[in-house]
Amino acid sequence: MTHRIDSIVARRVWDSRGRPAVEADVVTSGGALGRAIAPAGASTGSGEALDRRDGGAEFGGMDVQGAVASVNGPIAQALRGAEVGDQAGIDRILIELDGTAEKSKLGGNATIAVSMAVAHAAAAAEGVPLWRWLGGDAVDTLPLPEIQIFGGGAHAAGRLDIQDFMVVCPGAASFAQALEWTAEVYRAAGGLMKDAGKLAGVADEGGFWPLFDSNEEALGMLTRAIERAGYRPYEQVAISLDVAASQFGKDGRYRLARDGSDLDAAGMIEVLAGWIGRYPIVSVEDPLAEDDATGFQAFASRLGGQVQVVGDDFLVTDAARVKTAAAEKQCDTVLVKPNQRGTLTETRAAWEAAKAAGMGAIVSARSGESEDTTIVHLAVGWGVPQLKVGSFTRSERMAKWNEAIRVEEQLGRSARFAGALPYRSKAAYRA
Ligand code: PGA
Ligand code: ZN
Repeated sequence: MTHRIDSIVARRVWDSRGRPAVEADVVTSGGALGRAIAPAGASTGSGEALDRRDGGAEFGGMDVQGAVASVNGPIAQALRGAEVGDQAGIDRILIELDGTAEKSKLGGNATIAVSMAVAHAAAAAEGVPLWRWLGGDAVDTLPLPEIQIFGGGAHAAGRLDIQDFMVVCPGAASFAQALEWTAEVYRAAGGLMKDAGKLAGVADEGGFWPLFDSNEEALGMLTRAIERAGYRPYEQVAISLDVAASQFGKDGRYRLARDGSDLDAAGMIEVLAGWIGRYPIVSVEDPLAEDDATGFQAFASRLGGQVQVVGDDFLVTDAARVKTAAAEKQCDTVLVKPNQRGTLTETRAAWEAAKAAGMGAIVSARSGESEDTTIVHLAVGWGVPQLKVGSFTRSERMAKWNEAIRVEEQLGRSARFAGALPYRSKAAYRA
C-alpha cells in the first residue's frame, strides 16, 4: 500500500546535556505519525556529517533554529507527496537537496531527524513496530549491549584519558539477563567507589565520574566490581573500552595526562597490550587516533586475534572507509552512528559494507541523547549484533535499554540473544 507524506514539521527540543536538538514529525496522508530526535556527539570524528548550529551568544552558539528552518522549509517542500516507504528514494532527495559532502547546508541534525522520522512513519502506517518494518519476518536477534560503568575523556572534562569503561555480558542468556547482570556490576562498582572515597557523581553518559589516579586504576576497580557482583570475568561479564584516542592523540603522539606519559603509536599499543594482558578486556574502540591508519593496522595485527578492534572516529559510519579498513586490516568492527552520516540509507550502507567484508558492527548512541529509541530498532531490524548506549542510569539511556526489553518480549519464544557471538573468534574471550 502507498502512504504519502502529507506534512513534515520540526521543532527545537532539548537533549540530555540541556542543549538544543532537532525533533522532526512526519505525517502521512493516512494520518500515521513518525517522530525522531537528532542526537549529538562531543568526541566527534572530523569526517562526520555536520550539525547545523546557529552560533552567536544564545545557548553557547548551539541553537538549531537554522536546522529547524531547513526541515520546515526546503525539506518539507521537497518531500511532500513522497512515498514514505521509499527510504532510499527519500534519503537520496535529502542528499541531493543538501549537495555537500558533510550535510553542512541543511545540517546533518536536520536530515537525520527527518530520515529517522520517515522510517517511523512508514512503520506506523503499516501498523508494525519499526524493528519489524526494517527487518521483516526474519528478525529474531537482540544485540549484545555494551554498557558504560565509568565515563572519562571528553565526557568527564578529561578526568581520565580513556573515555568509556564498559561491560558486556557475553555469558548472559537473554538481553533482559544482560541488563540484570549489568545492574549488579554497576551497583558493585558504586559500592567499591564509595568504600574507596571515590564516589563523585556521574559523567555525561551517566557512568560514575572517575576519581582515579590512573587509567589503569579504573580497570582494576571494574574487574573487582565484576567479581564482587559474582560473575566470572571474560566468560560471563567482560570489559569493553572506548579509548577515543583522537581526543589525546595527534600526528603520531599520544599524551595520557592522567598517567603523565607522552607516547608514540608503538608506545600506546604497548600500554593497551599490557592492559589487555592484565584485565578481562574483549573489545577496544578507537585505540589509536583517527589520523593514524598505520597505528590501527599495527594494533589490529598484534591484538586483533585477542580483542575486537572497533573504529568510531576512524570510520565515521562511512561505507567507503569501512571497505578500506577491511582491505588494509585496520580494524574488524565498525561503530554505526546514524548522525555521523545524516541519513539512514548511508548508515545502513556502512553496516552492509561491514557484513560483506566479514566485519562486525555496533549500533551506537551519542553522548548527547534524548528519549528517542530509534537506534534500538535499527540494531534489531538490521540484525546488527551489538548495541552501545552509554551507562545504566539516566532516562535518555534507560529509554533505550527498556525499549529493547519490550522488543525481546514482543519476539517471545522466537527471541534470540547475540551473546558471545561477536567475540567467538577472539582469544581473550576464550582465555
Ligand atoms: P560521542 O561519544 O557521542 O561524544 O562521540 C560516543 C563515542 O565516542 O562512542
Ligand atoms: Zn567512540
